[in-house]
Amino acid sequence: MKITVVGAGAVGATCADNIARKDLAEELVLLDIKEGFAEGKAIDMMQTAALLGFNTQVSGVTNDYSKTAGSAVAVITSGLPRKPGMTREELIGINAGIVKGVAENILKYSPDAIIIVISNPMDTMTYLALRSLGLPKNRIIGMGGTLDSARFRYYLSVALKCNANDLQGFVIGGHGDTTMIPLTRYATYQSLPVSELLDEATLAKVAADTMVGGATLTGLIGTSAWYAPGAAGAALVESIVRDEKKLFTCCVSLEGEYGQQDICLGVPVIIGRNGWEKIIDFKLDDAEKAAFAKSADAVRSMNAVLKEMNLI
Ligand code: 2OP
Repeated sequence: MKITVVGAGAVGATCADNIARKDLAEELVLLDIKEGFAEGKAIDMMQTAALLGFNTQVSGVTNDYSKTAGSAVAVITSGLPRKPGMTREELIGINAGIVKGVAENILKYSPDAIIIVISNPMDTMTYLALRSLGLPKNRIIGMGGTLDSARFRYYLSVALKCNANDLQGFVIGGHGDTTMIPLTRYATYQSLPVSELLDEATLAKVAADTMVGGATLTGLIGTSAWYAPGAAGAALVESIVRDEKKLFTCCVSLEGEYGQQDICLGVPVIIGRNGWEKIIDFKLDDAEKAAFAKSADAVRSMNAVLKEMNLI
């Protein structure tokens, strides 16, 4: 099995590092446009193999997509990251052209690849991939909700002083500070609803902290986060290559599900060897439905920029 990660920046390199450590593939290609950058990171990673005991062969290439040929999964992290004070949405003008070019190049050499989109604004970049590549919808997966749900579980674990692995929690909707919807009502601690363990004000704070989770880190670090985004990408790759059929929130094409169509938005999906295999229908209450519709409106207006840019 061969996997490609495009973009050897912090998120791409972390994703690749996670994939290698987990031995998810025999071959992993890290590609970047910056001369020698991916090569250097790949060699650095390979020099951990003797210490960590993995067998995945990581190689780096500068913009040579022929070296990615035959990849089963390609993760796209290319484009600029956020700077402090910047929204993910502000990146659309720069990142849309980059992501479209990358996705087309990947498919030229790996026509059967499942595409995982991490680049921001992630919902719009996923929609761009869906509309411009003409692939079956199940092969286009946006990573955002997987990361946001992990952040939700982190903030819940801090509030509950418990292990994040004992928590279940999903964040649906867009991957934006105001468009994501932490589903507090459905969050559980080993099957016990968290609403029975935390008061309303604490739950509201957990949800609010989750929504600005990326912005908080950008403010602290000075650029976009990478450990959790990279790990989220690798978790999806793992569920695909091992056909785990795990449930994640991912940004996928909606055709009537959750009341939306002609949009890619975060919903709970089963991830397996065929990409996203099934959307799980969480019954939303009126407030959650309204929040989801509002999130869709915001993402749709961003998607309109793609038409203005003649990209779809
Ligand atoms: C984040 O939320 C990179 O969008 C990503 O950190």
